[in-house]
Amino acid sequence: MDTKPGHTKCEKLIRWVEEIAKLTQPNAVHWCDGSQKEYDELCDLMVKHGTFIKLNEKLRPNSYLARSHPSDVARVEDRTFICSESKADAGPTNNWADPAQMRAELRELFKGCMAGRTMYVIPFCMGPMDSPIAKVGIEITDSPYVVANMRIMTRMGQAVLDKLDGTGEFIPCVHSVGAPLKPGQADVPWPCEPEVPRKHIVHFPSDRSIWSYGSGYGGNALLGKKCLALRIASIAARAEGWMAEHMLILCLTSPEGKKHYMCAAFPSACGKTNLAMMQPTLPGWKLTCLGDDIAWLRIGRDGRLYAMNPETGFFGVAPGTSEKTNPNALATAARNSIFTNVVLTPENDIWWEDMGRPAPAKGIDWQGQEWTPDCGRKGAHPNSRFTAPASQCPVIDPDWENPRGVPISAFIFGGRRASTIPLVYEGFSWEHGVFMGSAAGSETTAAAIGLAAGVRRDPMAMLPFCGYHMGDYFAHWLSFAQRTDRSKLPKVFFANWFRKSADGKWLWPGFGENSRVLKWICERIDGTGKAVKTPIGWLPTPDALDTNGLKVSRPELAELLSVDVEGWKKEADDVAENYAKFGDRLPKAMADELKALRQRLGGS
Ligand code: OXD
Ligand code: MN
Repeated sequence: MDTKPGHTKCEKLIRWVEEIAKLTQPNAVHWCDGSQKEYDELCDLMVKHGTFIKLNEKLRPNSYLARSHPSDVARVEDRTFICSESKADAGPTNNWADPAQMRAELRELFKGCMAGRTMYVIPFCMGPMDSPIAKVGIEITDSPYVVANMRIMTRMGQAVLDKLDGTGEFIPCVHSVGAPLKPGQADVPWPCEPEVPRKHIVHFPSDRSIWSYGSGYGGNALLGKKCLALRIASIAARAEGWMAEHMLILCLTSPEGKKHYMCAAFPSACGKTNLAMMQPTLPGWKLTCLGDDIAWLRIGRDGRLYAMNPETGFFGVAPGTSEKTNPNALATAARNSIFTNVVLTPENDIWWEDMGRPAPAKGIDWQGQEWTPDCGRKGAHPNSRFTAPASQCPVIDPDWENPRGVPISAFIFGGRRASTIPLVYEGFSWEHGVFMGSAAGSETTAAAIGLAAGVRRDPMAMLPFCGYHMGDYFAHWLSFAQRTDRSKLPKVFFANWFRKSADGKWLWPGFGENSRVLKWICERIDGTGKAVKTPIGWLPTPDALDTNGLKVSRPELAELLSVDVEGWKKEADDVAENYAKFGDRLPKAMADELKALRQRLGGS
């Protein structure tokens, strides 16, 4: 392994790497060049150490399975911190800790924490290298699993060091699994700190640095993703006048060839990846994918908002991904992919619940135990994942790496809601649209550890990812009406694919059928879609949705498109309770929108 300081002339970087090595005491330092050779060698090393199982080369070429420690299966929101200088700036929705105290705590935790391990230096770039808002990060990690995943998820290696030489600017990201080895101590396949209170995912807004300790799980350890491209980027975006959002990016092309680019924000594990690469059931309509999780948006020269995907891969939830729900995701992960916490089949391939393929007669479950379909346990963890290169997606959009991004015509907010929220509605104005996003709520999922069941308010799906005070974040959103001509801003919609009938059945088939909703959105953008004004926004008239060939009865459709006034009054009360947290940092425009909604609903 290479111990030379890569090929960089950046003294600041070389000194920082030396400083972290002095603190963490690794056996060796490896500067990653991002090459295929390096990736293959690391994968071989992980196979040797039991971290990776090589999958059947014929069935799933160049792919691997990893099984995490049972304590390390999802993001740890309780242990995720925003250490702004003042507590007020982190706001009521983030865990705050005093930055000086936290730095001292981290210094103790990181002291000698890489003993017996190799320290990898990963130069990576979020966004196409020549994008005006691309950000360079350097992740130092003692996890080869992280290196392999980062190579799929980001642009990484020597080209990034070359870019850095020009500017010397990078976001420092330090990660350790928190499992130092004593001389002669044998390693385990998934080293981590099993004690949850010792795990730390820490962000310092003042120097925009990230420190992550104790977890190897993607959202906690691949620091380019949630930590940099959302939490730190949201801080940078506010300061620099752009947006970093938890949004997919897609393009819907009509049979006439007209393209509409849209961004959609749904909380974790609510089907963003499925929507991002959906196969429309409507004849002649085509969907192409630009990203499934994160969008960075800035105002272009023509005054419109342009979105780009800072990532290069998908880190998708495996269970439920099937030929029916998301054939394009399965095709994307057909090779060159990493699977975490799914079932290993006797053929050395992978399987998970609701994959739409027969379960193997027996297999090895995510905890490494023998498993049969009737054993009473799930084979794959509910938050098991695939990491797959975006370039392999059969419907990847030709512009997905365009450094300028693509012009966005619609924002869609959503959540997982069994009742109250209709299938789709449109906001009356930019301010009303921002209100709709700020009021979003969703039933909790398995993407984070320790969340209470029930509906939680998740504004713009950014609750776990906004790096500063949420009230100021709403104000940042509102400011776009002043930053550009408001007629150029995207129209704002809200969608809910998860509505259930009184007897608990899904009312809407979802997946490819969601193209009917997207078609109506395109028509609204073009000024042709029919809609009725209701207290909550514009809803499609009963004949506005294309229902040709749709197996949903008229009464079911009426229920999906109805406004449950009593339910909405409760919804407004719940939003008001959530808003109360933001105190005087809640923009007046948001309080006004809530008041106006209550009045339209016939309340006070
Ligand atoms: C994710 C998440 O992994 O949102 O994308 O948790
Ligand atoms: Mn996400």
